Amino acid sequence: MYDKLKMNIPKDLKEFPGFPHSKELKRSYLTRQESLQYLNDFIDHFNIRKNIKVHTYVRDVSPIKIPGSKTVKWNVVISDTRKLDEVQTEIFDSVIVCSGHDWNEYIPNIQGMGEFKGKIIHSRDYRHAELFEGLNVAVLGAHYTGEDVSMQIAKQAKKVYVCHSRTNFPPSFPKDIEQLPSFTSMTKDGIVLPDGREVKVDAVVFCTGYRYSFPFLKNDVIQINDERITPIYKHMIHIKYPSLIFFNIPRQWTYFPHFNEFAKLAVRILDGRTKLPTEEEMMKDSEDDFQSRLKEGLIPRYAHYMGDIDRQWRYNEELAKLGGFPPLPPVLEKLWDDIMDERYMNITHNTEFNYEVTGHDSYRILNPEGSKTRLSKASG
Ligand SMILES: NC(=O)c1ccc[n+]([C@@H]2O[C@H](COP(=O)([O-])OP(=O)(O)OC[C@H]3O[C@@H](n4cnc5c(N)ncnc54)[C@H](OP(=O)(O)O)[C@@H]3O)[C@@H](O)[C@H]2O)c1
Repeated sequence: MYDKLKMNIPKDLKEFPGFPHSKELKRSYLTRQESLQYLNDFIDHFNIRKNIKVHTYVRDVSPIKIPGSKTVKWNVVISDTRKLDEVQTEIFDSVIVCSGHDWNEYIPNIQGMGEFKGKIIHSRDYRHAELFEGLNVAVLGAHYTGEDVSMQIAKQAKKVYVCHSRTNFPPSFPKDIEQLPSFTSMTKDGIVLPDGREVKVDAVVFCTGYRYSFPFLKNDVIQINDERITPIYKHMIHIKYPSLIFFNIPRQWTYFPHFNEFAKLAVRILDGRTKLPTEEEMMKDSEDDFQSRLKEGLIPRYAHYMGDIDRQWRYNEELAKLGGFPPLPPVLEKLWDDIMDERYMNITHNTEFNYEVTGHDSYRILNPEGSKTRLSKASG
């Protein structure tokens, strides 16, 4: 995370249900340090630090078949990160994969990139805008990171070009940052646009996102095809080995509340309270989900994307039904829609607003009174 990162959703959407943020925090949009403090508070409150084994590199996770049984155990090969030449093996009944999905950076294949004499970095390694002082900079890719990073760099750089292919780019984006189409080739001192025009730049920042990677799972356990992971039921449960559960597959949603729901469902599956459908039914459900996404206009690479329309809430209802517990409260969806609209219409100031959840279905905006750019959906 970069130095001046502020969370892009308010703290009420970054909360485990039943564990509110400290009352001392008056602002809704937290810094990365404040968000880390919340996680540490959670760990201390539930006294779970003793269950966390740090400095542990997981090398391999493989199923061990038990003769005469449909269930498997898991052989987990680990190393202490301070003694990587030593390996140990432990056997578990189940494995929950929580290894994140924003660490394996994606840099597209750009013709001529090797000739470029300027700086090239991926946003994963971006920390300070000062690195770009006085430079002409091209940012490729403009989703959350590309938007944030280009606005930060623009405060130090001579000129920033944000290069993207989005059709729904925020109209409130600063006009001094020039928007250009995505480029697929570079020269020794610049980028080449699709119409052949060359733009001279001193640095290129790739904000092109990340790709799934599970280096500890072999290809006969999971397959990744153009960012679609199979065989997985409900973006979470391994269809052939339901004791292998993933918490890191859905992209672009409000992570913390959903992680709580994942945890509830995982416990119910593992202790047998939730009975899963047959392997064939789960395969069909997974395929139907993929096909319905294509019908709704998503590209195949968005097989696990949750960030459009009401997709994450529909999905939450499916998980809740499977687990036999109530879905997340509707206030989260209302607040999510509001803050997404606000970011779109007011990208330079949206994080100045503060919110308060007032009920199961209601919230209010605390400030700045009356200056919201859009009609508030708050019902409280
Ligand atoms: N302040 C914050 O809290 C904060 C800030 C930044 C990021 N984040 C989080 O970090 C996660 C990752 O965000 P991210 O923005 O780094 O990744 P991302 O959401 O995957 O976005 C990557 C963008 O790059 C585009 N792209 C990829 N290849 C491209 C190419 N060759 N030419 C043009 N565009 C290209 C993608 O377009 P396609 O999708 O069309 O391929 C996409 O729009 C998100 O969950 C986000 O919420 C949080």
